[in-house]
Amino acid sequence: MTNPDLVKKLSDTIHQIAQPGKGILAADESVATATKRLESVGVASTEENRRRYREMLFSTPGLGEYISGVILFDETLRQKDAKKTPFAEALKHQHILSGIKVDSGLINLDNTDEEKVTQGLDNLANRLQEYAALGACFAKWRNVYTISKTTPSERANIINAHNLARYAAICQNNGFVPIVEPEVLIDGDHNIQTSALKTTTVLKAVFEALKLHGVDLKYMILKPSMVISGKSASPRADIDTVAKETLSVLKETVPKEVPSINFLSGGQTPEESTAHLNRMHQLAGSTLPWNLSFSYGRALQDPALKAWAGKEENVEKAQRALFKRAKLNGLAAQGRYDPAMENSENTDFA
Ligand code: 13P
Repeated sequence: MTNPDLVKKLSDTIHQIAQPGKGILAADESVATATKRLESVGVASTEENRRRYREMLFSTPGLGEYISGVILFDETLRQKDAKKTPFAEALKHQHILSGIKVDSGLINLDNTDEEKVTQGLDNLANRLQEYAALGACFAKWRNVYTISKTTPSERANIINAHNLARYAAICQNNGFVPIVEPEVLIDGDHNIQTSALKTTTVLKAVFEALKLHGVDLKYMILKPSMVISGKSASPRADIDTVAKETLSVLKETVPKEVPSINFLSGGQTPEESTAHLNRMHQLAGSTLPWNLSFSYGRALQDPALKAWAGKEENVEKAQRALFKRAKLNGLAAQGRYDPAMENSENTDFA
């Protein structure tokens, strides 16, 4: 990365996002995923209801105290709040940067056991120019990997790593900080040691590909899954073990130049994902080479979604629920969370 204008843009974005005690709100659900989430609380997934839901989230008073960036979906970046202010501008008033999901989802990878490959490289540079004009300055691309005896296969691991690295290179050359998201799914009954081994293989392939494609590690954010037992494993590893194993895998695979690691929640409960992040900070103290924080979707949104259920009279209650999760995760990102804080029913906005 030698162009001084690009370097300034990328480093300003990193500087703003990777502030200690702040994280990212992932609100970039595709229309299909947003439909599932809204219908789960009895709300029809019209464009207007998706807009109303996102407005409820983004207008939460004080959200910017704990959230430094929000990832949006294409539709949302083009939408406005009730006062006709585009969402990216409204978020800016909260001191929050706007990001954009640029991958276009998953298809089966041929000649594998239904493993997935992520699409979306076509025309990416042009799309980024348009997204920049709409107010976005960082991007997200998500790969998924399934754990089984035979997966992730070498084929899926390599092709996904290269696509992710090409995306990251295109982003940086267009002034966007790429969020690099290799998600090792929690589905299955594997133990935590298996998760550690498979996550190590995936992350090694990703960093090899990033190097090959000339991606400058100083201007990217890694969004990994935590190293955790499969959802249907019994017993499942406790908080301490998840924190230790995750730190150990990250220390082995993630170069020190990477400025920030922001975890996805990946099906953990809101409380679990907060406790795991907090424990990592308590164990590591000030020894971490990277900022270590969150980029949660469901773990931040679920309590707010349930409280809202599509009704105007529930907006304040829902915003308090989001603010509470943002605040507790902000504290966890500094090792200052205590599970007893979960019981305080009234979280003040400030
Ligand atoms: P979850 O935290 O719900 O896993 O979502 C994060 C995300 O952005 C998935 O791509």
